[in-house]
Amino acid sequence: SNQALIDLLNTQHELTQAQWVQLIATFDREDMAYATAIAHQLTIDKFGKNIFFRGIVEFTNYCRNDCRYCGIRHSNHQLQRYRLSKEDILACCADGYAHGFRTFVLQGGEDPYFTTERFTDIIATIRQQYPECAITLSIGETTREAYQAFFDAGANRYLLRHETADPRLYRRWHPPRQRFEHRMKCLQELKEIGYQTGCGFMVGAPFQTPEVLAEDMAYITAFKPEMLGIGPFLPHSQTPFRDYPAGNETLTLFMLSLCRILQPDVLLPATTALGTVQGNGRQLGVLAGCNVVMPNLSPFSVRKQYLLYDNKAGIKDDAASGIKKLTDQMNQIGYNVISSRGDYQPNTEKK
Ligand code: 5AD
Repeated sequence: SNQALIDLLNTQHELTQAQWVQLIATFDREDMAYATAIAHQLTIDKFGKNIFFRGIVEFTNYCRNDCRYCGIRHSNHQLQRYRLSKEDILACCADGYAHGFRTFVLQGGEDPYFTTERFTDIIATIRQQYPECAITLSIGETTREAYQAFFDAGANRYLLRHETADPRLYRRWHPPRQRFEHRMKCLQELKEIGYQTGCGFMVGAPFQTPEVLAEDMAYITAFKPEMLGIGPFLPHSQTPFRDYPAGNETLTLFMLSLCRILQPDVLLPATTALGTVQGNGRQLGVLAGCNVVMPNLSPFSVRKQYLLYDNKAGIKDDAASGIKKLTDQMNQIGYNVISSRGDYQPNTEKK
């Protein structure tokens, strides 16, 4: 049994590479139940039975990048591209605000149309209209100057999954012009500028091994992100990775629990991808240590064009019914959805 290793993680908040590999490669049902129970209890100790909701606005599916796993990659010419206007984006925020959201997540491909100037103006307007709300960006890699300008305009948080901490695997997942070193540099800069920063990875993507996942955990241990995005890989039929199997749901849940135990304070969403592999995936995520859910606020008309993978959950709902379904799911397992910003709060009791 690996319970001693899980205990060690729970007390030391780090493991060696060999220990991570052993845990990830050899865990059984009992280890899983043990990790889930510890992670779930840590989450309740920290957050109670409360879930932070974040509204995502997928404001552009144009992307200059060509990630081999991703449905909105530049080379996918079968896709109808769209971008929302500033007015559209503000309307999504207004809709979200009326539903109680106090965090807006602006996510999009790396779309050159949104220059630093244009995007700074959008952020500044949201900041002015919603002074008490958090603004989270998820728009990929750019320059330190642009990150600083967005921060100065009022953005608070930034999600940029590192995707994999293994440089060789990174090169198998991305074309040569997307550089691992640059992505890591971006994450470092975001943190230095003062963003609450999120990294993360997919589980079960092609060529990923327990050794690679162990490196992801070591990276997270060193980087100490305030947020962590983890979901299963899901194939998209118009990408080079179309024929690879989806990531395993159990392994994803186990990795989520390990992340919670590693970093009890981290903001950890039960992702849409997790809700896509199984209808109750996000409920299982919460019971495994997640404390955030991110309902979609994008206009109904563009939802089917923002598909990073096939069969994405929620594309047949409008914002209101998606929010209601997720709220009901959380209530069913005894959780309340909270209308507050839900900023990262380090635990000052412990060292
Ligand atoms: N399956 C699961 N997750 C994906 N992402 C992109 N493509 C896929 C896919 N096919 C994730 C990446 C990215 C985030 C926005 O979505 O990790 O960082």
